Amino acid sequence: MPPLWATDKKILLGVSGGIAAYKTAELVRAWIKQGYQVETILTDAAARLVSPLTLSTLAKRRAWRDCDLLSDEHGWKIPHITLSEWADVLVVAPCTANALRAAAAGDSSTLLGATLLACKSPQLFFPAMNSNMWANPATKANARTLEERGHRVIDPDSGPLACGYEGAGRLPSTEAILDETWFSLCPIRDFAGKKVLVTAGPTHEYIDPVRFISNPSTGKMGYAIASEARYRGAEVVLVSGPAALRPPSGVRLVSVTSAEEMKEACLSESPGSDVIVMAAAVGDYRARARSVQKIKRAASRSLTLELEQNDDIARAIGERKAGGQILAGFAAETENIRENALRKLDAKNLDLVVANDVSGAETGFASDSNSVEIYLAPALGQPPKRISGDKWEVASGILDIISNVTE
Ligand SMILES: Cc1cc2nc3c(=O)[nH]c(=O)nc-3n(C[C@H](O)[C@H](O)[C@H](O)COP(=O)(O)O)c2cc1C
Repeated sequence: MPPLWATDKKILLGVSGGIAAYKTAELVRAWIKQGYQVETILTDAAARLVSPLTLSTLAKRRAWRDCDLLSDEHGWKIPHITLSEWADVLVVAPCTANALRAAAAGDSSTLLGATLLACKSPQLFFPAMNSNMWANPATKANARTLEERGHRVIDPDSGPLACGYEGAGRLPSTEAILDETWFSLCPIRDFAGKKVLVTAGPTHEYIDPVRFISNPSTGKMGYAIASEARYRGAEVVLVSGPAALRPPSGVRLVSVTSAEEMKEACLSESPGSDVIVMAAAVGDYRARARSVQKIKRAASRSLTLELEQNDDIARAIGERKAGGQILAGFAAETENIRENALRKLDAKNLDLVVANDVSGAETGFASDSNSVEIYLAPALGQPPKRISGDKWEVASGILDIISNVTE
């Protein structure tokens, strides 16, 4: 699911003749599944590497080709002008060294080149090529030229390349392309210039080398907040416990395992953060003594584990809170939600607390939808707010409140 403001958008995908062109079938399919309208323009070289029929079938529209630039088939509708006016965002993926050169030179001899030149919407280029081609100063200069004109050129990933080389040149994953496109489409940048620290996921408290105590938190809520803050312009650090989620693009990920590691990371990242959102489900207890060897199944039918309390990270951050810093905590509760949330707000010196009823299967842990009540510190003088919906709606609602109180 896309973020709230990224629905109903029109995406123009330019495909140039890189070997990664075959991956655009998956990209188009992902956008169509998310409800976008997608038009595709293939260069002649691209049309040899991925079938226009595949892309037109997936996009449910014709796939445009270079031969359409000067075709009289379209009557008075000039394809490059019509397409450039239609698009909310123009994505070139994969972008060959040649397509990068053509775009930087303002070459309008192809349908893609002419459309790029005419288009006023945000433009994103995803170069993908042999690592020597990418490292070549000519390519770098073309990328820089486009960036200086306000376009975005996303560095390729590193790894094994189709040409047999190893290095920078891979097309980023479909998810990363979706992420970067959302960033370009985001209409607000109210967190620009702000550093936002977000914690997410569960912690694992190991009792022996192969077993741990944890909880069912997936990290989805914290990851959605980190993504949304980044889309809205923040520099984001995401301190995450073990989560099976792809780290959002453009976010600095600090991976931790235990509550102690999370505390250490938070204390080192929190000074200098303007906003801190503690959405992680941190374990309250750890084993007093972690067994060095795997605990064996013994003759006795019971086993007693002695636990000791972990430090309260939100409280530790609250005690050190600097003037102007906003600290938001989560309260996952199964009973007396309001009372417990208000107690947490006060005891931990929070500015707001997001109270989450995790007693049912529909909301809270491991669920895609959520219903939360947000209580603000009395000094902020605002009544509680309820937000229900998917995690994007909750993430954006929480950031709206923070944005309001920091104005
Ligand atoms: C099999 C094959 C794969 C290619 N892959 C790439 C590539 O990944 N990146 C790139 O910049 N050029 C690649 N090229 C070279 C381009 O296809 C060539 O420069 C072409 O002129 C690009 O045209 P276009 O930019 O109009 O699509 C490849 C060529 C071949 C034959």
